[in-house]
Amino acid sequence: MAKKLFLCFLISAVSAMGADLNYDVVLAEIFQPICAECHSQPGASADLDLTQYASLIASKVVVPFKPEESLLIEKVTSGEMPLIGDPLNADQIALLKAWILAGAPDAPPPAELTLKSVTPASGPANGGTEVLLSGSELSEAKAVYFGESECTDLTVLDPTQLKCVTPAQGEAGSVDVRVVTDSGEALLASGFEYRPVLGPSYRSLYVNIFRVRCLGCHNNENPSHGLSLESYETLMGHRRAVIPFNLKKSRLYKKTREGEMPKNGPPLSSAEVSAIGAWILAGAPNN
Ligand code: HEC
Ligand code: HEC
Repeated sequence: MAKKLFLCFLISAVSAMGADLNYDVVLAEIFQPICAECHSQPGASADLDLTQYASLIASKVVVPFKPEESLLIEKVTSGEMPLIGDPLNADQIALLKAWILAGAPDAPPPAELTLKSVTPASGPANGGTEVLLSGSELSEAKAVYFGESECTDLTVLDPTQLKCVTPAQGEAGSVDVRVVTDSGEALLASGFEYRPVLGPSYRSLYVNIFRVRCLGCHNNENPSHGLSLESYETLMGHRRAVIPFNLKKSRLYKKTREGEMPKNGPPLSSAEVSAIGAWILAGAPNN
């Protein structure tokens, strides 16, 4: 009967403490304040260091899952330990037993600051892209850097997500993204790609418009209406798509301005259509 009650008590103590009952708890509650004076290095009594998890387990005074076989429990219930001072009270002994019954677990390793992704993963070199950064232990983020420049409007959404607005970058290309806290930093190598700013050059139209909005249909493999937008040569090789200096006859301009292209997608912005127009009016150079 007494044994049954005792077990019930232990089980409820264990479940009440849940996963939080680990070495750090018994260290803070009992070993450090009551036993460390004699049981810590150097010169630990009976060569028993209770302030280091590894040496405590190695000493075998604790048998995980078996409080009744653990010498440590025997010593504190008999009142032999602590050698001087008040004996442990019932709560303190119950806590030690519950910890051992739970397997005498060590404290979990400290959670690590990590950065796993940046979404979207690219944006224009003049900055201003609102990005979501995902990872772990991000709550203490003090700053986020894209290359050497600091991201603005940093907001912590939760420990796994941050939001900020990309800074401008002198040059297009990919940069490392870094989250900095008081105690460390996490880096995502080549975490973000800066695209050339939208403008009337072939390269800019390609990376900002053709590549992201048109290649699904106008590719070399299966070019819709014979038009592939994969390269300058294939675009200019198409009979009607671009007639240099002539906006009216250039279907690339007409179709995008009228919103017919991209097919089945939102129309291009007026800035994008203007860039296409300006490039054709400049003679559609391969720049
Ligand atoms: C004032 C010093 C002192 C304090 C405080 C003290 N101990 Fe001890 N402890 C000793 C000494 C000395 C021995 C070895 C002699 C003995 O077993 O009586 C010992 C032995 C032990 C042993 C047996 C080790 C073995 O391998 O035989 C255990 C277990 C133990 N102590 C646990 C504790 C715990 C748990 C506490 C805190 C709640 C504690 N002690 C507090 C001095 C202390
Ligand atoms: C979902 C598929 C799809 C996407 C995406 C798409 N197109 Fe097209 N495109 C077509 C089809 C099909 C045709 C032929 C029928 C038509 O004109 O509607 C076409 C025709 C064209 C033509 C006319 C070619 C000719 O010979 O008359 C141009 C120019 C063009 N597309 C440009 C673009 C551009 C620029 C984009 C990206 C901004 C784009 N398209 C995105 C499917 C697509």
